[in-house]
Amino acid sequence: MATVKPIIIAIDGFSGCGKSTLAKALAASLNYRHIDTGAMYRAVTLYFLENGVDIENPSDIEEALKNINIGFKFNPATNQTDTYLNGDDREIAIRTLQVANFVSPVSTISAVRSFLVKQQQKMNEHRALVMDGRDIGTVVFPDAELKIFMVANDDIRVQRRLDEMQLKGQLGNFDDVAANLRNRDLIDSTRSDSPLKKADDAIEIDNSHLTRDEQFNLVYNLAMEKIDQGDEFTAPV
Ligand code: DC
Repeated sequence: MATVKPIIIAIDGFSGCGKSTLAKALAASLNYRHIDTGAMYRAVTLYFLENGVDIENPSDIEEALKNINIGFKFNPATNQTDTYLNGDDREIAIRTLQVANFVSPVSTISAVRSFLVKQQQKMNEHRALVMDGRDIGTVVFPDAELKIFMVANDDIRVQRRLDEMQLKGQLGNFDDVAANLRNRDLIDSTRSDSPLKKADDAIEIDNSHLTRDEQFNLVYNLAMEKIDQGDEFTAPV
C-alpha cells in the first residue's frame, strides 16, 4: 500500500527547555516512536554511580559498558514511557539531582557516547521517529528531515525542572537546580566530543513565552510540511 514517507525529527537544545515534552506529544500525534536520549545518558550514569565505576579509568568504563542494557517500556499506570536498566524500571532513579549532577561529566566520555549513539542509530529502522537530546541533528541523525533547536530563558527552565521534579514526588530547591542547569549547559556545550550546538539546518525556537499548545502547533505544522514534501513510498512487507 502506498503511503506517506515517514521522517526523522531531531529535537536538540539546552537542559530544561521542554524537549522531551514536545517530542512526546509530537510522536503521539504522528504515531511515531519517541526516544529521550537524555534518559539513556542518565541510565549509564546511574549504573556508574551504583557500581562505583571510576570515570577516570578507561578500562573500568569499557568493562562497565559491556554490562549495561538500556530499554524503554510504556507504563500504562502513568501513561509514560519508563527507562529500564538491565531489566529494572529505573525511571524515578534516573531523574534525581544526584544523577543530574553526574550525568554531564559522564556524557563527555567518548566511549559512552559511541556506545549510546550506535544504539540510537539502530532505532531508525522505519524512520517515523522523534528523538530528543543534544547531538541528534548534528551527530546521530545529520540527515533528519526536520531539526529543531530549542532555547528558553534560564529562570523559566529552572522552574520547569522544579515542576517536573515535583510531579515525580521529588523536592528541589531553586538555587540547586539553577546551579545544576548552568553547570550542565557549560559542560554540554564545551565538551570536545559532540558538543551541544545548533545544526546549520536546524530551526531555532525560543519557547520562553510560548504555551505548550503554541509550541506544539508550531512544530507540528513544520513536521507536516516536511511530511507533505516527502515522496510516496510503498512500505516493505
Ligand atoms: O535531556 P536531559 O537533561 O535528561 O539530559 C541529561 C544529560 O545527558 C545532559 O546534561 C547531557 C547528556 N546528553 C547528551 O550528552 N547527549 C544527548 N543526546 C542527550 C543527553
